[in-house]
Amino acid sequence: MSTASAPLRVGIAGLGRLGRRHAENLAFHTPDCVLIAACSPVETERAYAEATLGVGKTYSDFNAFLQDPDLDAIVLVTPTSLHADQAIAALQAGKHVFIEKPLALDVADCLRVEAAASARPDLIAMVGFVRRFDPSHAHAFDSVRQGEIGRPFLVRSQTCDRLDPDGGFLAFAPTSGGIFMDCSVHDVDLARWMLGNPKATRAFASGTIAVHEDLAAMGDVDNGLAIVEFEGGARAVFYASRTFAHGHEQHTEIIGTEGKLLIGQGAPRDHVVRSDEHGVRHQATADFFERFSDAFRHELTAFVNACRTDGASPLSLQDATEATRIARAITASLHHGQPQEIQR
Ligand code: NAI
Repeated sequence: MSTASAPLRVGIAGLGRLGRRHAENLAFHTPDCVLIAACSPVETERAYAEATLGVGKTYSDFNAFLQDPDLDAIVLVTPTSLHADQAIAALQAGKHVFIEKPLALDVADCLRVEAAASARPDLIAMVGFVRRFDPSHAHAFDSVRQGEIGRPFLVRSQTCDRLDPDGGFLAFAPTSGGIFMDCSVHDVDLARWMLGNPKATRAFASGTIAVHEDLAAMGDVDNGLAIVEFEGGARAVFYASRTFAHGHEQHTEIIGTEGKLLIGQGAPRDHVVRSDEHGVRHQATADFFERFSDAFRHELTAFVNACRTDGASPLSLQDATEATRIARAITASLHHGQPQEIQR
């Protein structure tokens, strides 16, 4: 193990769409950390890690990667269906572990990870709910906690991606758990966080396919709506889309008894507003990388700090388990067309 004064020695597993961003952040933009190893079954991805990131050791086999005695921590950016088993193996190998969201597709798998983490309280296990590290969401959270909008009782939150006419996301749709588990799970986590972690009791969902007809065979939709009820009367409304024409538009509204907060409406890329013969408009944020680029750096910095200082993870595995539990109930409601009681 590295000491508090030494940089954390990190290895990354998964160098796909998001893994590359995390790897670049770990290699070049995260203080007190050194990216020393990378693991991917894909030869070109390992070559990229060596050539572009200067990573000294690459592995095609995940178990061999975990046995590297120089590694203090593992960052998992692999397909969601692999998260639980890989996280457990990392903890059992004595490594801190950062796990991309969602923790797992099933609550039982989440609980297995919780058990493995409980057996190693000396290790950090943190799930990457990146929006908690976005400065605007953090500001809103602080305002809520300070009582600035009275008692928060309703969250409306959406994750809407720009239309990819080629349907690139269809490649990972079968392992992602569907639109609510893949996209709305962020909004679910935000709603719990902003509302003070009430227990969810019931979920209802509906959806439609606006563009990507191939999703029908997977029981999925490209536009989904959900309502979640919580103990004590709080409610949340979620909307997820893969088909926005203008860009990536994520926003969250927290409504309280004495006011409301709105984060991110309109997806402006910057502060420039253009007025001409076509009207008044601004350019839109292209994708979640652009919207959350700072937050992705902040979350890895928080993980590294927690590992190096024997601190606590900024969010718990129980938070991640609850997010999966709620996203599953929403998905079940979509499939069955009925409200779903949320069991524990
Ligand atoms: P991807 O399919 O582009 O990348 C997956 C990577 O895992 C590839 O590099 C692949 O070679 C590698 N891989 C597959 N099997 C492996 C194994 N056994 N051992 C090591 N590496 C293996 O997927 P993407 O989009 O990068 O998503 C990865 C994870 O990140 C998912 O869990 C997803 O939910 C999450 N994600 C989170 C986002 C956020 O906003 N926080 C945004 C996008 C993805």
